[in-house]
Amino acid sequence: MKLTVNGTPRDIEVEDDMPLLWVLRDVLGLKGTKYGCGVAQCGACTVHLDGRAVRSCVTPAGAADGSMVVTIEGLGSPDAPHPVQCAWIDHQVAQCGYCQSGQIMQAAHLLDTLPAPNDAQIDAAMSGNLCRCGTYPRIRAAIHAAARTIGET
Ligand code: FES
Ligand code: FES
Repeated sequence: MKLTVNGTPRDIEVEDDMPLLWVLRDVLGLKGTKYGCGVAQCGACTVHLDGRAVRSCVTPAGAADGSMVVTIEGLGSPDAPHPVQCAWIDHQVAQCGYCQSGQIMQAAHLLDTLPAPNDAQIDAAMSGNLCRCGTYPRIRAAIHAAARTIGET
C-alpha cells in the first residue's frame, strides 16, 4: 500500500486488514499514537486521514491506501508547534499523558472544521476522547485558547 505519512510518501507491505494503528506504531515506528481500547471507544488512537479525525484502531490499512495520514508527530514540530500543541503546553493539560495525542488530534480537527467553538460544541466534538485523569476542563480551556490564536493569525 501507499501512504503519505506526515508529508512523507511511504510504500508499505502489510495485510489489508491490519489496523492502521499497527501500521503507524509497529511498521513505521510512530509511537505517539496510542492503543487504548481497540474498539473505537476511547479516542487514544486518533489520527487524521485525508483531513478527517479517525480511530486508527478500527481503520483497516486497506481503507487508507493512497491516503494522507497525519499523526501527532506530524501535526507540528518542536520549532513550529501547532497552536493546539502550544495551548496544551500553556495550560499544562496533560496529566499521565496517555490519552493526550488523541485529544490533540481530535481538537485540531475540531478547529479545522469549527474555528470558534463554544463549550457545548467542544464537549460534543471531544466526547469520544476519554481521559482517565479527568483533564477535561483544561482540554476545554486549551481549545478556546488555540481558537483565539488561530483567529488572530
Ligand atoms: S484505541 Fe482506538 S478508540 Fe480506543
Ligand atoms: S491524561 Fe491521563 S488519561 Fe488523559
